[in-house]
Amino acid sequence: MKFNIETERLILRELQVGDLQAWFEMDSNPEVHKYLGNQPVKSIAQIEKAFQSIQQQYAENGIGRWATIEKKTGEFIGWSGLKFRTDEENNHINFYDVGYRLDKKYWGKGYATESCKVALEYGFKTMQLKEIIGTCHEENKASRRVLEKCGLKFVEQFIYKNELTCDWLKITKEEWEKLDVY
Ligand SMILES: CC(C)(COP(=O)(O)OP(=O)(O)OC[C@H]1O[C@@H](n2cnc3c(N)ncnc32)[C@H](O)[C@@H]1OP(=O)(O)O)[C@@H](O)C(=O)NCCC(=O)NCCS
Repeated sequence: MKFNIETERLILRELQVGDLQAWFEMDSNPEVHKYLGNQPVKSIAQIEKAFQSIQQQYAENGIGRWATIEKKTGEFIGWSGLKFRTDEENNHINFYDVGYRLDKKYWGKGYATESCKVALEYGFKTMQLKEIIGTCHEENKASRRVLEKCGLKFVEQFIYKNELTCDWLKITKEEWEKLDVY
């Protein structure tokens, strides 16, 4: 396996076919999609398509979101990690962003923060990236807080897909090296 990273409470590894059912359950919850355009997933076929896209990203970009597994139960709790963004957003293209989406059962335990920290470490140490972006809907306070706890700083707002007002945050390798939150 290409990725198999352990944190204190999580395992981050490549997404697998066996994750699809739990992934579908996470993404069918409207609360999970509250700040993502309010379009919860309706069929497993949508998840299969996303899975294929991520498999392709692993192969073409050497990176993609990771399955996020709770160590103590072995349960799939969502996905997190880095993505190479080849679609244009906020006038940027070909940049790396950090993201996360967890099943609601697992919110509020610090898991997104734990996975985000290790994604930044992987990006800056292993991949030697110069900067990593984080974006969230302007009202998605939990997501914004995770990004800030991991050291990303607010840069500006932008309009996502002509529709959602979102926050654009950033951290450079130099800033990350100076952090004392790790
Ligand atoms: C965003 C998400 C991943 C956060 O996961 P999580 O594991 O609960 O996050 P953490 O526990 O690591 O940290 C959340 C932080 O936000 C804070 N928070 C949560 N809700 C908040 C709110 N409504 N207002 C202000 N702060 C809030 C928490 O108190 C915590 O900060 P603290 O450690 O200083 O107390 C999770 O809510 C989720 O999957 N949401 C749906 C998908 C999504 O929106 N993804 C992000 C897209 S940009």
